[in-house]
This record gives sequence, C-alpha cells and structure tokens, in this order.
Amino acid sequence: MSGNTSQLQVGDKTVDMAIKEGSVGPAVIDIGKLYAQTGMFTYDPGFTSTASCESQITYIDGDKGVLLYRGYPIEQLAEHGDFLETCYLLLYGELPTAAQKADFDYRVTRHTMVHEQMARFFQGFRRDAHPMAVMVGSIGAMSAFYHDSTDISDPHQRMIASMRMVAKVPTLAAMAYKYFVGQPFVYPLNSLDYTSNFLRMCFAVPAEEYKVNPVLSRALDRIFILHADHEQNASTSTVRLAGSSGANPFACIAAGTACLWGPAHGGANEAALKMLEEIGTVENIPKYIAKAKDKNDPFRLMGFGHRVYKNYDPRAKIMQKTTHEVLNELGIKDDPLLDVAIELERIALNDEYFIEKKLYPNIDFYSGITLKAMGFPTSMFTVLFAVARTVGWIAQWKEMIEDPSQKIGRPRQLYTGAAQRDYTPIGRR
Ligand code: CMC
Repeated sequence: MSGNTSQLQVGDKTVDMAIKEGSVGPAVIDIGKLYAQTGMFTYDPGFTSTASCESQITYIDGDKGVLLYRGYPIEQLAEHGDFLETCYLLLYGELPTAAQKADFDYRVTRHTMVHEQMARFFQGFRRDAHPMAVMVGSIGAMSAFYHDSTDISDPHQRMIASMRMVAKVPTLAAMAYKYFVGQPFVYPLNSLDYTSNFLRMCFAVPAEEYKVNPVLSRALDRIFILHADHEQNASTSTVRLAGSSGANPFACIAAGTACLWGPAHGGANEAALKMLEEIGTVENIPKYIAKAKDKNDPFRLMGFGHRVYKNYDPRAKIMQKTTHEVLNELGIKDDPLLDVAIELERIALNDEYFIEKKLYPNIDFYSGITLKAMGFPTSMFTVLFAVARTVGWIAQWKEMIEDPSQKIGRPRQLYTGAAQRDYTPIGRR
C-alpha cells in the first residue's frame, strides 16, 4: 500500500487501486477496474469485506458499539427525540427546526389513511395468514393503489411516495394485526402523535373507549427510533438492489420487508422470545448454552451475536432499560421470561465461548419481552421492526436514486458447475 493507492500483484501484473477515505471508519480499496485489468473478480460471500455503496446516512463502529444516524448517537436520539424527528433526520440529513418538525408531522399525519379498497384487498388473505406475509403483499400492492407516485425520475413523486410509506405502513401494520385477530380495522386519528395513533389502531375496539398509555407510547416510539436504520444490512441492501433496476419504491420496500422476515434478521426477536419460552426456567439455561456451543447442533442463542457489533449492541442497552420501564408501568413484577433473559445474558457474557467469539446480546434479545408485555403477539414483532425500518429503507433508496454514479447492482460469481457439454436426447440418458 502506498499513499492513497494500494497495489495488487496478480501473476506478472501489478494493479494500482485507489484507496478512498470515509469521514470516519475504515477506508476502502476501489476494485472497480479489477476485472478489466486482470480478468478476475473478487470473492466475498456474505459481503464481509465489501462496501457496496457510499452513504451519508448511518455509521456503525461495531468494535466500540457505536451507532450514529447522520452523526448523532442513537442514545441521544432515543433519549431526547421522537420517531418522526428521526425520520426527518434520516430523510433530509439534518435535525428539523420547530417549524420544519411541525410541518413534517402534519404532512405525515395527513397521509395516514389508506385507500378504502385496500380493506377489501386484505379480505383476500387467509384469516390465519402471518402478518409479515400480509405486510409483504400489502406494501407491494401500494404500487397498484398509489401508481401516481411510482415515477422514480420525478423528485416530487419520490417525495410523495416517501411520505405515503412513512405514514401508511403503520396503518397497514395495524390492519394486518386486526385482520389476524379478527377485529374490525380502526381508522387513524390525526389528533394523536404517530406512535399513539399506531397503538390505538392496533388495540382500540369500537365497543370501548381507548386511552393511550403515554409510557407505552413513548417506549414504542423509542423502539421505532432504535430500529429506524442500520446501514447496509440485508434488507437495506435488498431495497438498494431492487431499486437499482429502477423498480418503483413500493416494490423495493416490499422486497426489503420480505428479506427482513428471516430469523437471522428481523425475525430474530420473534425467535428470541420463542427461545426464552422454550428454555422456560433458569435451571434449563446450562443445557441451552451447551447446545449453542455444540458444533454439531444447529441451535443458536437467538438475540445473541451480530455481523457488525463485536461489542454490546448500543441499541440493546436502551432496549433493556425500556423493557424495565414497560414492565414496571404494567405492574409486571415477576416475569419468568425476564428472569430467564437476565440470567442467560449473565451466563453468556461470562462464558469463554461467547467472550472469544465476541457474541453479545443484540437489540432483539429484549425487544420481544417488551412487545409481548405491551400486548403484541409474537407474529407482530417483525412487523413492528418493518414499520420502523421503512424510513431507513426509503432514505437509503432515495440516496441511491439521487446518486448520479448509480448503476444497476449486478454481482458476479465463482462458477463451479459443469463446463459446456452437449445435450443428450432423453432416450439415451
Ligand atoms: N449462538 C451461538 N453461536 C453463535 C451465535 C449465536 N447466536 N452467533 C454466532 N455464533 C458463532 C457461530 O457458530 C460461529 O462459530 P464458528 O466460528 O465456530 O463457526 C461464530 O459465532 C461466528 O458466527 P457467524 O454466523 O459466522 O457470524 P455472522 O456475522 O455471519 O452472523 C448473526 C451474525 C446475527 C447471523 C448470528 O450471530 C446469529 O445467527 N445470531 C442469532 C440470530 C440473531 O439474533 N439475529 C439478530 C441480528 S440483530 C437484528 C438485525 O440487525 O437484523
């Protein structure tokens, strides 16, 4: 490596590659011309050493356990701000002034209702459909209901599509929940703030008056802030890849939602809670720790480990505090799941296997207990993650579309299949 270039020796060729510095974090080696110069690709399954884009939205220092949105530490945003302020920050790059915030809140609020025909669209899903399946389908269907904001070359349509998704995805999520439990849909109430409105759409019924609990609303709002963006994770990369072909934003966010559903990603909070329930009591923990350490057993401690954080996930710390606040507010003194979680965390943090592999609790470890206490069924956990992450996906999608150097994403491969061979007629095989 010399100056701001690095050199790679391939056979008898020496290739110079520029080193690009970011504002913070590791520099990158620009390998864009490698194939043209050597006829070789790089190989990096899971993209563990590959930066797929340049971005100014979110920064993670996984070794130090730092997460910044547009430069602001997640702890400060979660402590002092609200979710819509975070949305504004992610979308526009700066914290809003009071007037900008009031205008943004107003605009989001005015978009919370969904096309009435979407209610009929919902009837096509099986009653017992998983709410994430309903989310993937209904967010994708937004491109049919809001076709007038699908021209990605028009900045105004991009803005409208963004506002529509931030505002309507919670409404769709609440509808997915209501459909799942067999209750009538509840229309948004625009006098409420974003998260209180969401709680009401989920838990109000026509037969009774519903009063939003401000402690629960604040806790869920904080959970939304914690989940709003996380740089180039699997679902965000999916959104960018889908968007790179020029697909409309609703289709891209539906693709991201599908990716989020997996248990290694957004589905982990559901999986973590199921695991805590399966463990059941503190006495059973050593058996499960042994299973997690056994190379021949596919079992993993859900809610532990992270591709990027090799330290305590900063979101997990805030989440743990939020869990205690919610349980206190609801008067839940002895939650056996919380006892199992605290003891599991204590044992794992002192176990050589977890220390050596730098496996710490991630955000999903505590979020399941909190959401369950609030009254959400496990099948809604990933849906709530999707509600929050929608803004991150949109911010990343917008950044990509507005980047003049943007091209269609097209990874290459190391082919290990059969070389060319001749077709054999079926009778001779
Ligand atoms: N329990 C036991 N062992 C683990 C765990 C775990 N949860 N996570 C990783 N390991 C081991 C793994 O077996 C491997 O061991 P070895 O080196 O001996 O083969 C080593 O640690 C490295 O694991 P990896 O799978 O190569 O690491 P990764 O960066 O590819 O995976 C992960 C990251 C999050 C997929 C993984 O830690 C995991 O499956 N965790 C459980 C699922 C989970 O909680 N996911 C939520 C992630 S946070 C929310 C989000 O951002 O979506």
